[in-house]
Amino acid sequence: DWTSDVFIDATVEELRSKIGDDKVVMGLSGGVDSSVAATLIHRAIGANLYCVFVDNGLLRKNEFEEVLHSYKDMGLNVIGVDAKQRFYDALAGVSDPELKRKAIGNAFIEVFDLEANKIDGVKWLGQGTIYPDVIESISVKGPSATIKSHHNVGGLPDFMKLSVVEPLNTLFKDEVREVGRALEIPETIVGRHPFPGPGLAIRILGDITAEKVKTLQEVDSIFIQGLKDHGLYDQVWQAGAILLPIQSVGVMGDERTYERVVALRAVGSVDGMTADWIHLPYEFLGKMSNEIINRVKGVNRVVYDISSKPPATIEWE
Ligand code: XMP
Repeated sequence: DWTSDVFIDATVEELRSKIGDDKVVMGLSGGVDSSVAATLIHRAIGANLYCVFVDNGLLRKNEFEEVLHSYKDMGLNVIGVDAKQRFYDALAGVSDPELKRKAIGNAFIEVFDLEANKIDGVKWLGQGTIYPDVIESISVKGPSATIKSHHNVGGLPDFMKLSVVEPLNTLFKDEVREVGRALEIPETIVGRHPFPGPGLAIRILGDITAEKVKTLQEVDSIFIQGLKDHGLYDQVWQAGAILLPIQSVGVMGDERTYERVVALRAVGSVDGMTADWIHLPYEFLGKMSNEIINRVKGVNRVVYDISSKPPATIEWE
């Protein structure tokens, strides 16, 4: 029978004999998977694990600072890199979802490579790949559907010449969380909803600007905090807000407004392969709508996404 303790002991032992005295570099995303993978590798080899956490300017509000702080508290040897402008530059004028993913993937590789090259004699690349990522990246969804390029799976170029170490590639998300809790990783990280590698870029339909990111961060932060305050966060597998590329007419006082529309999305799922929209209470949705429209400049309408996967996907891009 699978238990997290047995898994941890066996994995740490295996990592130790595989890696020996070599150095490992690893990119952290703030998510559960990379955090748990890093913690396991850190248990096995300690200070020979070098972590890099990149601020791509597409994370949730305050997420970079908060998560970097948690990583340091966990004893990880982590360097935080502010690369916001580089990602915004790479994304300027890009609207196509797959081109966004490519631009972000490439920018990430450039930044990561620069940092990795500062570490002498690194031989391994640690990754937080979990079992569904492996399946997703090899599965064929039919001729009309292109598979989203998950830049965090096997996406690093040959020139890095690093061997890959992926301690979680046989686990499902709930098992990763169980391992994370057994490793005493803070609940703010272990219990965190999944968040896509390309971040808010694929939740801003159309092109990306720093101003749109800021707007969406505010909306998203109100929604996520609302879910937490109302005891709903843990009943939802993933939630977020989407900034739509349209404006709609509204009224404020005596003035006619013409401002942005945002969509809220909350789904239940096991592994993200299928998902059901969550029947959030109307009172809660009403409260969120009021709060968002009152507090976020430039937004005058909130809609709720009631589509399940399939045929919709969780993300809008
Ligand atoms: P979809 O939208 O395909 O999403 O139903 C399924 C799960 O995958 C996440 N997702 C991504 N994760 N890079 C990632 O790392 C991506 O390009 C990407 N696209 C979607 C999505 O957030 C959901 O959890």
